[in-house]
Amino acid sequence: MSNVTVIGSQWGDEGKGKIVDWLSEKADVIARFQGGHNAGHTLVVNQVTYKLKLLPSGIVRKNKISIIGNGVVIDPWALLDEIKQLEKLGIKITEKNLYIAENATLILPMHKELDGIREDTKNTDKIGTTRRGIGPAYEDKVGRRAIRVMDLANKNNLSKRLDMMLFHHNSIRKSLGKSKINKKRLINDLAKISSKILKYSTPVWKKIEEFKNKKKTILFEGAQGLLLDVDHGTYPFVTSSNTVAGSASTGTGCGPNTINYILGIVKAYTTRVGEGPFPTELKNEIGNKIGRKGKEFGTVTNRKRRCGWFDAVLVKQSCIISGISGIALTKIDVLDQFKDLYICVGYKLNGKRVNYLPSALSDQFKVKPIYKRFDGWLENTQGIKKWKDLPVKAKKYVNFIRDYCGVKVSSISTSPKREDTILLENPFKKN
Ligand code: GDP
Ligand code: IMO
Ligand code: MG
Repeated sequence: MSNVTVIGSQWGDEGKGKIVDWLSEKADVIARFQGGHNAGHTLVVNQVTYKLKLLPSGIVRKNKISIIGNGVVIDPWALLDEIKQLEKLGIKITEKNLYIAENATLILPMHKELDGIREDTKNTDKIGTTRRGIGPAYEDKVGRRAIRVMDLANKNNLSKRLDMMLFHHNSIRKSLGKSKINKKRLINDLAKISSKILKYSTPVWKKIEEFKNKKKTILFEGAQGLLLDVDHGTYPFVTSSNTVAGSASTGTGCGPNTINYILGIVKAYTTRVGEGPFPTELKNEIGNKIGRKGKEFGTVTNRKRRCGWFDAVLVKQSCIISGISGIALTKIDVLDQFKDLYICVGYKLNGKRVNYLPSALSDQFKVKPIYKRFDGWLENTQGIKKWKDLPVKAKKYVNFIRDYCGVKVSSISTSPKREDTILLENPFKKN
């Protein structure tokens, strides 16, 4: 058996949660490696809907180990709240089935506040963030002043570390006309929860090594999507972490050769939440219809997701940048009732055809999609579990995506439910 990384290949919300939950039957360990509670991963198991933010999507299954890696930014209060919510639904979470990297960065209230201030200012373009403090927390990590999980274990050390961090934050706050951070209160607030977090804390890189030695199967679960990657996405309209498959290695502490298969989750059309370029966006009744059928409302912020046609140019770009081995195509059932379907196969930019999304933001806003038309299948695909049962026209649509992107289709999802999935290639099987 091999280890698999699952990543989003568009602007997030591709259905990673559903696919990770479905695949985790075959895995022993499920590890998150980047992002934070900006993620919203939905699973539907036996008519119960679980909405996960920080916890890996394997958490709902018994006898699985869940890991939150060092690449994740953790709001400790949000994590404890999520654990509480899941416990209400009968999920057992203990230090036996959840490990948190001792060197993961914490999101503190000042990060959230700063995220909100920046979003609300009239002076700059709004990114449309989730306002969870993700960006400011990653900034502190890279700025070498962040508080990390193990800092909670030692009050003196925490106090010193906070001095470094507050020196930076208080100067920003002063210029924004905000009051100084009350350090004593922050330390007290952290002291109230530190033991509840520290009990899960461990050197995750060592655990992963142990699992590898015991030949356990590991599933690495990405958050967001490649076009939100801080290097490769539609910068600056991105999140603040690397969402590419390579992050699974840095975000947990294992070599890139740990991973044998990279599964790119791809929605059968395109959506985006927040601001930024979106070449195939449909600001019309067709876009609204996709949104209605696909229930395209954000899991985290409940914002309406922008909807558009499938952009094969972008997905191909994702496949190349992340080294995707196979695609899990999701939400094909949402397209059941469209007479005509379109796939973007290139762009027009300044009168010339281009076959990739250029990095300059001004070009990203300017490109005009070139479409190929497909006949809609106008048949029900919801709940189909076998390739042979898909309508011929749906197969043609799927095969075109495969051929254009040059990547095999590993599975097709036909409803939110765990079991409504067509398996074409088992990612865990050594190929
Ligand atoms: P994630 O962030 O990538 O995990 O995706 P989200 O959970 O935010 O959004 C995907 C939404 O689509 C969720 O509401 C899922 O329950 C739902 N979903 C996943 N796969 C399918 C599918 O094949 N068909 C339909 N109709 N819904 C799906
Ligand atoms: P999952 O894992 C979709 C978007 C936000 C915003 C930008 C930056 O559920 O696919 P941030 O709060 O990260 O600083 O916001 O990124 N964004 C997501 N969009 N799905 C997500 O996660 C997202 N996480 C962040 O809407 O445009
Ligand atoms: Mg989501």
